[in-house]
Amino acid sequence: MTKNIVILAIESSCDDTGAAVIRNGNVLSNCVATQLNHENLGGVVPELASRQHILQIVPIVDKALKTADIDLSEVSAVAMTKGPGLLGSLHVGVSFAKGLALSLSVPLIEVHHMQAHILAHFASQTHPSFPFLNLTVSGGHTEIVLIHSHLDMELVGQTFDDAAGEAFDKIGKMLGLPYPAGPHIDNLAKKGQPKIDFPVPVIADLDFSFSGFKTAVLYYLQKKTKEDKDYIIHHLEDICASVQATIVKILLQKMERAIKKYNVSDIAVSGGVSANTGLRAGFQRLGNTWKKNVFIPPFEYCTDNAAMIGVTGYYKYLQGKFCSLEVAPDPRMKI
Ligand code: KG4
Ligand code: ZN
Repeated sequence: MTKNIVILAIESSCDDTGAAVIRNGNVLSNCVATQLNHENLGGVVPELASRQHILQIVPIVDKALKTADIDLSEVSAVAMTKGPGLLGSLHVGVSFAKGLALSLSVPLIEVHHMQAHILAHFASQTHPSFPFLNLTVSGGHTEIVLIHSHLDMELVGQTFDDAAGEAFDKIGKMLGLPYPAGPHIDNLAKKGQPKIDFPVPVIADLDFSFSGFKTAVLYYLQKKTKEDKDYIIHHLEDICASVQATIVKILLQKMERAIKKYNVSDIAVSGGVSANTGLRAGFQRLGNTWKKNVFIPPFEYCTDNAAMIGVTGYYKYLQGKFCSLEVAPDPRMKI
């Protein structure tokens, strides 16, 4: 009988504490404790986030094990996010994972958060085939990656400044929406029309920039609220629809360029912003136009989650890619 490979995974890169159990590459549990204390603070407050992780990590790991009906003695390895992310938040997950691996005498596996966002596709039964192109869009990153195999990835485009999620969140702040604003803009956009033409930046190759667009929205809102102080309240849904349509256009233009450049049959999108309904629909249309197979993860695997860390940990386990107990978090970890 072949051995069951059970990975206990921990994710604590930002403001969500996640724990998951993966057996032979299949997700048995995927638990997330979301921190709501940043909602009205305009963004994640790092010190608050790390303190909250300390309170949440034991109960969430416990919940993941119970949901999976797995005893700690069955765990083959512990996987955790090493970076990129917030230093204090990463420290909690890395320290906890180290302690657990040491006490269980099992290997420790370090995981790159953005690589995990891509391998999130493999948490589902249907997933892309290699090589494929992935648009990875989160709160801190916007990248186009060419994936040759589970652990061989080539970064072919990225943002010079803000990430797509950051653009959603910062513009949401200008509009008075709670953090993270992405889901709020998404919901409001459904009731509005993309009537406002915001500029789409002209950037070479497969790279992105969102800061000029963000400033254009700021100047537009400043001008309009001078004329009518309630402009935002009266036009919130149309503003959201226009902002979302522009961000989606910027992302899909580059994805289309990547499709023309690289001859792949499968295209995929992942990361927190892939939860956006406008992007999901647009990405599907792009795939139809270019006759590509399209892969978009279910919502639970789009935003930060530990299942994607566990799935990545599983593929690293198969290749014996373990790390030392000396490992330290790497807030700016490169892919
Ligand atoms: O991947 P993720 O959960 O965390 C990071 O690794 O950053 O991504 C979080 C980002 C936030 O900027 C949030 O506003 C955005 O994903 N987001 C969305 C939606 N859901 C989450 N943006 C647009 N529409 C959504 N439905
Ligand atoms: Zn993420």
